[in-house]
Amino acid sequence: MEKITVVGSGYVGLVSGTCFSEIGNRVICCDVDPFKIAMLRKGEIPIYEPGLKELVKKNVDADRLFFTSEIGDAIEASDIIYIAVGTPMGDNGEADMRYVHEVARTIGKHLNSYKIIVNKSTVPVGTGEQVRQIIMENRKNRFVQFDVVSNPEFLREGSAIEDCMNMERAVIGATSDKAAKRIADLHAPFRTRIFQTNLESAEMIKYAANAFLATKISFINGIANVCERVGADVTSVAAGMGLDSRIGAKFLQAGIGYGGSCFPKDTFALSYIAEEAGFDFSLLKSVIAANDEQRLVVVDKLKQALGCLEGKKIGVLGLAFKPNTDDMRYAPSLTIIPELVRLGAYVRAYDPIAMQAARNQIAEYYEDFETLEEALEGCDACLILTEWSEIVEMDLARVKQLLTAPIIVDGRNCFSVREMKEREFVYYSVGRPAVT
Ligand code: UGA
Repeated sequence: MEKITVVGSGYVGLVSGTCFSEIGNRVICCDVDPFKIAMLRKGEIPIYEPGLKELVKKNVDADRLFFTSEIGDAIEASDIIYIAVGTPMGDNGEADMRYVHEVARTIGKHLNSYKIIVNKSTVPVGTGEQVRQIIMENRKNRFVQFDVVSNPEFLREGSAIEDCMNMERAVIGATSDKAAKRIADLHAPFRTRIFQTNLESAEMIKYAANAFLATKISFINGIANVCERVGADVTSVAAGMGLDSRIGAKFLQAGIGYGGSCFPKDTFALSYIAEEAGFDFSLLKSVIAANDEQRLVVVDKLKQALGCLEGKKIGVLGLAFKPNTDDMRYAPSLTIIPELVRLGAYVRAYDPIAMQAARNQIAEYYEDFETLEEALEGCDACLILTEWSEIVEMDLARVKQLLTAPIIVDGRNCFSVREMKEREFVYYSVGRPAVT
């Protein structure tokens, strides 16, 4: 059993802190936001993540998981300190490191015994070393030792608990073998593969992995755009490509581009890191630009289906950047809906979970409805932006009755082209033949 403090009870901190407690450790999750801590203490979870609420309750009840805004006390009471605070995008695309630095100062001031400081936040290469320096400058007793470790997070929103409990690999970059071994031992109950390297490489692995996945997505979206023009079907192309184990079948789903809190931020940050280091990472810049353009392919398809958008009612299904989350950060809907409105359309929208979060961002552009059916009623076309199972499984016969014309533009390839043809829909999807 380890005594762990996780500083930052956002998405990453809360999920990993809870999972560390689930495998038997005593974990204190901290946050500077007292409202968040008060909520968590009452068993309320500030984010939507399947299974998290139950797991938090289970571990709080077992006296293994605690919440506090007294960060200094929590640090003093623990041997392993995870830094899991945000690294938002700065003005030039760089990662804003002010929260990480602030935590490092606090750790320095409260370094009362040997501790291992672990970075879980996605941070530019060299941050571990900066954290080490800041702690050295701020520690009161220079004889108290510490180690710094980079142990990046690879969780996906919407399946974070599952990803953490069945972790594919743990990347550990450390300033000493002793610290690396202790963090590796901490992960033993997860029965995962441990990959040990130095601090800088561990930090780089996180950016490289996300940038590579983003590249896969932009690549398959490019292939999809070609497929449409030459009569191929991107679903089959991706399946055929994916059989090559060097390529792999995952992350080859064509659509309206990646969103979320990670890929957009991390690709920008890596491009900035490269620039600063004197390398023009033009491939990565193209990945980012292609992703921006991909969002608008569904707007063009709507134009093709409807002639023009002026005065047309569009029923938008799905607002979150992907299913099983209420996260609206860099969601394609944030670009697409204002564009539809700019072109004169009127938007009625529905999302199973993210409606409130969406309202906070672009409420002025659309009207939202409590049910999918209400949103579609009287619309000239349906536009799918997120592949929630409720949307994939919707009653298509009913949808046909609700719309004024049977037109669906599907940004997530939720339905088979054959079925839509049989059901006599006008159906535009991504990278597959249009049914007109
Ligand atoms: C991503 C990574 O998958 C995690 O490994 C990583 O830990 C996380 O970022 C992070 O850095 O914290 P996440 O942003 O939760 O996780 O979501 P993903 O499931 O990876 O999806 C990202 C975006 O790519 C979504 O908008 C999704 O719709 C899109 N996507 C994904 C595609 O368009 N096609 C695909 O084939 C896969």
